[in-house]
Amino acid sequence: METLDPPDWTALRALGHRMVDDMIDYVAGVRDQPAWQAVPDEVAAFFQEPAPQEGAGLEAAYADFQRYVLPYPLGNLHPRFWAWYVGSGSMGGALAEFLAAALNPNVGNGSHAAVLVERQVIDWLKAAIGFPAEASGLLVGGGSMANVIGLAVARFAGAPFDVRAEGLTGAPQRLLVYASSEVHSCMQKAVELLGLGNRSLRRIPVLPDYRIDLAALAAAIAEDRQAGALPICVVGSAGTVNTGAIDDLPALADLCAREKLWLHVDGAIGAVAVLAPGVRGFLAGIERADSVALDLHKWLHVPYEAGCVLVRDGEVHRRAFTLTPPYLAPETRGVAGTDFWFGDYGPQLSRGFLALKAWMSIKEHGLARFGRLMDQNVAQAHDLARLIAAEPRLELMAPVVLDIVCFRHCVEGADDAVHNAINREILLRLQERGIAIPSSTVLRGQFCIRVAISNHRSRDEDFRALVAAVLAIGEEVEHLGNRNMLL
Ligand SMILES: Cc1ncc(COP(=O)(O)O)c(C=O)c1O
Repeated sequence: METLDPPDWTALRALGHRMVDDMIDYVAGVRDQPAWQAVPDEVAAFFQEPAPQEGAGLEAAYADFQRYVLPYPLGNLHPRFWAWYVGSGSMGGALAEFLAAALNPNVGNGSHAAVLVERQVIDWLKAAIGFPAEASGLLVGGGSMANVIGLAVARFAGAPFDVRAEGLTGAPQRLLVYASSEVHSCMQKAVELLGLGNRSLRRIPVLPDYRIDLAALAAAIAEDRQAGALPICVVGSAGTVNTGAIDDLPALADLCAREKLWLHVDGAIGAVAVLAPGVRGFLAGIERADSVALDLHKWLHVPYEAGCVLVRDGEVHRRAFTLTPPYLAPETRGVAGTDFWFGDYGPQLSRGFLALKAWMSIKEHGLARFGRLMDQNVAQAHDLARLIAAEPRLELMAPVVLDIVCFRHCVEGADDAVHNAINREILLRLQERGIAIPSSTVLRGQFCIRVAISNHRSRDEDFRALVAAVLAIGEEVEHLGNRNMLL
């Protein structure tokens, strides 16, 4: 009989140990590697090979991994990776990921310990956010999916008809969701997926500090009601992707209570900072939300993927998704002997054991260490802002609240178009030389080098190196002779 089990368990054991040793060496030495390097054409060509009909064995597959995959990572393990908003992972989390995969449970249904692990992780997150015991939650692939589920529950709760039965074809009025113009693009995908449509996501202007303009929000809601539409939900941002701004959550909670609207908080970046003594004050009010999306693979450094949605009213959450065909009926005993099914809380039935890496990471380090690491990143962001402010050639482009710093290199007499081109070139050279990996954004039409310090390996000297490199490359680029070449 054929099986996927190895013919020789001893050889598998030896190879497994070698993989662990190799990866520990790799991660321990990551600081000495370039922060990033492009995938060469011949390596990219390797990935065009058709699937083998006959296997070459795990040893050969591992050799391919070492040769073609390992040398060309995204770079987010590196101490000078600060692009987008990406976590740096942890070796404990990686080992837990192996345990989860080896055990390979389906955490959508059934009575088994993996379900209890996930429920405990959710309980810990609920307690951290300040949600009540009757709140529910679900681990998902990331903040985007957590936001989809939060909005799906908001839509279910806010529609004055049975949206599960009728869909939006049953809607007598347009259902509206409000968020600031700084809201993450995943929210647009969420309203599109939920059939509300992008035009039902009202983008409200922000104040100079990039927080939602509450007066404009209240006026938009009143105007839309007047016009016959049905506001159902306000999305607050707890850490915007561009600048890390945190909306005035207590004021949003008051407004939603007054207007009888669902308050969903996109806390993919900032919600976990309730653990950080220096930051948690900025997040006051998050505990009053109806639902919160948060990410474990970002600032908690749980290996990708892991996000979470929490819903204050667990019963509404369950009713938004529950479905029990006979082949999934719970039993009073046996492997189906539980009335709690994660499949009742989201669109997925089969689900991986995402919780184990979070559960083990929290047990390994404790919540307080994660909080201290977040405070460390915020302090580094403020230090970087000070370094920038001290350099006449650099300009800080937005206030620093969390761990995101937006700045640019300035050239006397240059207009925005030249500034944008120069700063883009500086960024690309920083990346291509493997020095440091910030990313970019555009604030009020101005291209910014954006440094998001969700990195537990960054040291103060890394930021000094960044500033020195930006100044040096800035000088190179400025003296290219013909600046228009960059446009
Ligand atoms: C504010 C915000 N919301 C949502 C998301 C989406 O999260 P994910 O990438 O985990 O799907 C991000 C991603 O960076 C984000 O910054």
